[in-house]
Amino acid sequence: MKQAASGLIALLLLCGCSGVQTPLDPAGDQAASIHTMWNVMLVVCSFFYALVIGGLLWAVVRRRREPVPEPQASAHDPGIERTLAVWTGLILAGLTLLISWSFFVDRSLAQTHDDQALHITVTGYQWWWRVEYQDGPVNQWFETANEIHLPAGRTARIKLESGDVIHSFWAPNLAGKMDLIPGRHNVLDITPRRIGVYRSQCAEFCGMQHAHMALPITVESPEAFKVWRAHQLQAAKAPTSQQEAFGKAVFETKACAFCHKIDGADAGGRTAPNLTHLASRPSLAADAIPYSRGALAGWISDPQGMKPGTKMPNVPLTSAESSAVVAYLDSLK
Ligand code: CUA
Repeated sequence: MKQAASGLIALLLLCGCSGVQTPLDPAGDQAASIHTMWNVMLVVCSFFYALVIGGLLWAVVRRRREPVPEPQASAHDPGIERTLAVWTGLILAGLTLLISWSFFVDRSLAQTHDDQALHITVTGYQWWWRVEYQDGPVNQWFETANEIHLPAGRTARIKLESGDVIHSFWAPNLAGKMDLIPGRHNVLDITPRRIGVYRSQCAEFCGMQHAHMALPITVESPEAFKVWRAHQLQAAKAPTSQQEAFGKAVFETKACAFCHKIDGADAGGRTAPNLTHLASRPSLAADAIPYSRGALAGWISDPQGMKPGTKMPNVPLTSAESSAVVAYLDSLK
């Protein structure tokens, strides 16, 4: 019994690499209004379910106790007509309550009256997320990948786009689900209220590594967010050892720089995640692997082994080159 309960809780919490992921523990305004609707639906549907099953049991028991001849119901039996009218009224009232509630929740999700919203564009790719903070003057914009930081209490207006196929952005603790569709801009508002790390996950099957297309969202105090943002605006740290300098040179001259961008290095690729502050992120490969220097080394030497189908190729490097690249990337806090 205890095992079944903990299994159910684990299923509901769906713990990933980082953070919780459940719609039953809302940490933002949008998720809270969806959660309230879920409670209303549960109460209304449970009421009708109990009524129907109760009526059925009552009829069975009554029939067994008093075997009466089959009643000859006429079209104008006032008893049957009254019962039908009561049932129709009850069902109509229940359905009207659910439809109206769902309509008003939908409206509340669609409008945010916040002119101070934080503008972020999230673009989905097979199988990672580009995250662009486009808030304030253009020289204050920056890009990261596979992680979002949000200040608690401020609405984030997230523009959702896709670079290839249809994906879906779902952060169940914070808001509802919305698709990322090639050629379209969808907008999702998130007003986080509680500090913590919440896992979001691609919710539309998009190919082989769909299940490993997650995005941890860190909700922090406005002060902590300011510090994080100021750090993100800085270029990558310059190498401080000979090995790191060698790693940077390898990165710039081998295939890495064709796909990845590092601000402050001669690497301007746009087809793969921006690595400017890679080592400050909680995970690698769209939350598939928790970040550590060892995981980074494994990822670089055999990406196909760690995430089969990933677009990251196995780049042929000598072991000295590989360790140097790991040392350099691990210094990019
Ligand atoms: Cu992207 Cu599923």
